[in-house]
Amino acid sequence: KETKLWGGRFEESVTDIVEKFTESISFDKALYKHDIMGSKAHASMLAKQGMISTSDRDSILQGLHEIERQIEAGEFVWRTDREDVHMNIEAALTDMIGDPAKKLHTARSRNDQVLTDFRLWCRDAIDTIVESNIRLQVALVKLALKNEGLIVPGYTHLQRAQPVLLQHLLLAYVEQLERDAGRLLDCRVRLNFCPLGACALAGTGLPIDRFMTAEILEFTAPMRNSIDAVSDRDFVLEFLSANAITAIHLSRLGEEWVLWASEEFGFITPSDSVSTGSSIMPQKKNPDPMELVRGKSARVIGDLVTLLTLCKGLPLAYNRDLQEDKEPTFDSVKTIVGMLEVSAEFAQNITFNRERIQKALPAGHLDATTLADYLVHKAKGPTKFCSRSQIPFRTSHDIVGRAVALCVSKNCQLQDLSLDEMRSLSPVFDEDVYEYLGVENAVKKFCSYGSTGSACVASQLDFWVTKLGID
Ligand code: ARG
Repeated sequence: KETKLWGGRFEESVTDIVEKFTESISFDKALYKHDIMGSKAHASMLAKQGMISTSDRDSILQGLHEIERQIEAGEFVWRTDREDVHMNIEAALTDMIGDPAKKLHTARSRNDQVLTDFRLWCRDAIDTIVESNIRLQVALVKLALKNEGLIVPGYTHLQRAQPVLLQHLLLAYVEQLERDAGRLLDCRVRLNFCPLGACALAGTGLPIDRFMTAEILEFTAPMRNSIDAVSDRDFVLEFLSANAITAIHLSRLGEEWVLWASEEFGFITPSDSVSTGSSIMPQKKNPDPMELVRGKSARVIGDLVTLLTLCKGLPLAYNRDLQEDKEPTFDSVKTIVGMLEVSAEFAQNITFNRERIQKALPAGHLDATTLADYLVHKAKGPTKFCSRSQIPFRTSHDIVGRAVALCVSKNCQLQDLSLDEMRSLSPVFDEDVYEYLGVENAVKKFCSYGSTGSACVASQLDFWVTKLGID
């Protein structure tokens, strides 16, 4: 057996069971690129500070370059007995270039090394997720553009509430995604500080330049406190929290589309290319991708909970427990990217069933609230809302409630009531009431900022088309 890089004080090698249990190479090899970046920066700094010669530096840089090439070509042999990505690369470098490689770990510990790698990895992962997030936003906005003027029932408690423009509803998801991206970018700002040079926990007496490595690696600055630098995992907690919130949003979108694709709703038809069938029921066509978006949100939440539980009660500074931070993070990122991508794919492959939706609109008295507003507006007198004849909203709510009850007993819609029937409930009703009834009329009456009125929705849509650069 090869002596471990840390093997000096040991008289026996670890047992196979311990080696297998403690290794992380099976998953942390995903950090290879960032590990090599970090090592290159460190070697350059050591040379600049006169701790290694420029020729040692050059052979280290060349060796690392070759190792990266080998890894990418699939030629590199990852060894479990070399424990993790850091020692695999360092030992391979030593095999390749000999003595200069042994100087690379000067003024460095795996504790600051792994965090440097991990922060760099998370930084890239955030950028990837934000790109996928934007692709979904674009898909939703394009879906909105394709469906101008389409009114759908808006729900609260999953009961019919008020008519809304489909565009308005789709843009609600775009807003959520925008905040999701914002949370990730905030997290990126906070995580972009460099732990390298914190060494094991206490820093070093050697003349390193932490500002130089931080700058090469495009961190904002070195972390101020070396103990914090090797202990902190709140950057991952924050990152996975942001992913969990995104996952929740996507699970809601998933649920909505699964419902809408049902026979009972029938609002959307997903194309065959985003549907799957049943192994027994020949007629089935299922919206599986969105069901799995809903389902996979569980993993992303679970990954966060794993990390929270992992960190709870850990003393400063590094503890080996923390090696367990990688897999949930990798899983969270892979899953959230998949969820965003498939949601965009689904959005590009659904059609709204205008006729079916149109037929569904008369049910549920979606215009009742508009009618209550009518009474408030109508009774205000020609100029002011505070005239004596004003109907308080609570009263108009009650009057319209009774109108709805009348419709329920007659099995008709509000617009089917005669003026006399309405006047029997309140003398304020006038001929113009019919301009407020029916979903088309009702939607036209909305005018508050951010509302479902067509002008308001058009300006929201304009905002997103411009912001996302859609043509
Ligand atoms: N593989 C370890 C991890 O991912 C690297 C740091 C190990 N440090 C140590 N002293 N054992 O956390």
